[in-house]
Amino acid sequence: METQDQRIYIFDTTLRDGEQSPGASMNPDEKLRLARQLEKLGVDIIEAGFPIASEGDFSSVRLIAREIRGVQVAALARAAMADIDRAWQAIEDAARPRIHTFISSSDIHLKYQLRKSRDQVLKEACAAVAHARAYTPNVEFSPMDATRTDRDYLCDMVEAVISAGASTVNIPDTVGYAIPEEFGNLIAELFSRVPNIGQAVISVHCHNDLGLAVANSLAAVRSGARQVECTINGIGERAGNAALEELVMAITTRRDLFGLATGIKTENIYQSSRLLTQITGIRPQPNKAITGANAFAHESGIHQDGLIKDKTTYEIMTPQSVGVPETNIVLGKHSGRHAMGKHLEQMGYSLSDDELNRVFVRFKELADVKKEIFDEDLDTILFEEVFRVEERFRLVYLNVVSGNVAIPTATMQMEVDGNIVQDAGFGVGPVDATFDAIRKLSGTNYALLRYTVNAVTKGTDAQGEATVQLKNNGHSVIGHGAHPDVIVASAKAYINALNRLEWIRKDAAGGAEQTR
Ligand code: KIV
Ligand code: ZN
Repeated sequence: METQDQRIYIFDTTLRDGEQSPGASMNPDEKLRLARQLEKLGVDIIEAGFPIASEGDFSSVRLIAREIRGVQVAALARAAMADIDRAWQAIEDAARPRIHTFISSSDIHLKYQLRKSRDQVLKEACAAVAHARAYTPNVEFSPMDATRTDRDYLCDMVEAVISAGASTVNIPDTVGYAIPEEFGNLIAELFSRVPNIGQAVISVHCHNDLGLAVANSLAAVRSGARQVECTINGIGERAGNAALEELVMAITTRRDLFGLATGIKTENIYQSSRLLTQITGIRPQPNKAITGANAFAHESGIHQDGLIKDKTTYEIMTPQSVGVPETNIVLGKHSGRHAMGKHLEQMGYSLSDDELNRVFVRFKELADVKKEIFDEDLDTILFEEVFRVEERFRLVYLNVVSGNVAIPTATMQMEVDGNIVQDAGFGVGPVDATFDAIRKLSGTNYALLRYTVNAVTKGTDAQGEATVQLKNNGHSVIGHGAHPDVIVASAKAYINALNRLEWIRKDAAGGAEQTR
């Protein structure tokens, strides 16, 4: 059993900083589902969102605060009274609420963004912490852009906010500028120069612009930081945040070096990554450590030979230790509802009877045209049947004519606001024609940022999984759809993106401006 000193607190910000990844916006139901998984994973704190940013953010944070009882729930607020009041309203029903307030501390931000003096910002930081402290003793403060902040000023600020009542002080490398040794030294310097530092937990929050977020966080941990802020698969603003699974597995695998432990149940890592991918459509790159498709794949003959002789030759951790299933062959057309339900449970999903029935109908339809159903196939069905967003637009019928002699034409029926409408679209190919038909029927013409199709599993009977990224009014969303016919999959992905944008449009009313 580790002592308190040896415990690293995992502060997961997938739902807040992670959601700032382009296209990663999630609706309240999706956030709650992910929050439940994070609780199961064993994180210590979930940063659920930024309540003043929008009505949707507020209601998601409140929902999570009310439903998730086993972990601390944090809400983000700028160092402004209205932000802090709104954050508190969202989390006051939480079992263990935390207010996380922040203000920039670097001269670059003070001069160009805040246009305030150092004195003024220091006062605002302390006033914000004191205001939050009147609501709860669990207050975290972050001096934004800390790594580009004057050291003396940073030390003064850390000391002042601890005196004002901050129980956690987080040192963000907001722009991913730090180098591990330098960042470790910064944390060590704070420990040696700030007289009251022992009264707060020191946390770090590293961005990955130079690919060093995890290395920087680990260097900080070696210097005494005891909370790390991170996201599943490292998603987040720009190049993302430190990846939770990499931090945790580094600390776990190299316990000999760190002598530290987290509360993470590592066998739930893979399922958490998979759920995030399902919800956001953002798949980790194949060579991504721990959660990438190739993370445990040994290609070289020499390596395979070594592994047969003894696993430890080339394996520093087992796939099972992070929950990667040994084989994912699932079911076929004769499998029953019970067998499918049991398998979904093993994959980590707990569904209601109604959800299970809907998934089973789709499973049977797919099993009629595809011999083997893999976990990935079940994931795509779940995404469409269970995790779906409210649908203003729905595909009813699609018929496409294409080839090297015809003008590619898509005839389509869609349901729009409950009415069936029909039209034809034309283009340079079948996908172009299909998207043209959708644009006509939905009366939209958003910028198409990205379109991809991948096979979900192996074999020519595999489902195609399409992703479509659309942008409107500064918001980009990723929609996805799967079907054995890649044109149908593409249409579903486009329509899913439209429904996601629709949700954002509704949510935009009532949010504060310039909060992210
Ligand atoms: O990157 C950053 O500085 C942040 C703060 C709000 C902690 O996300
Ligand atoms: Zn950040």
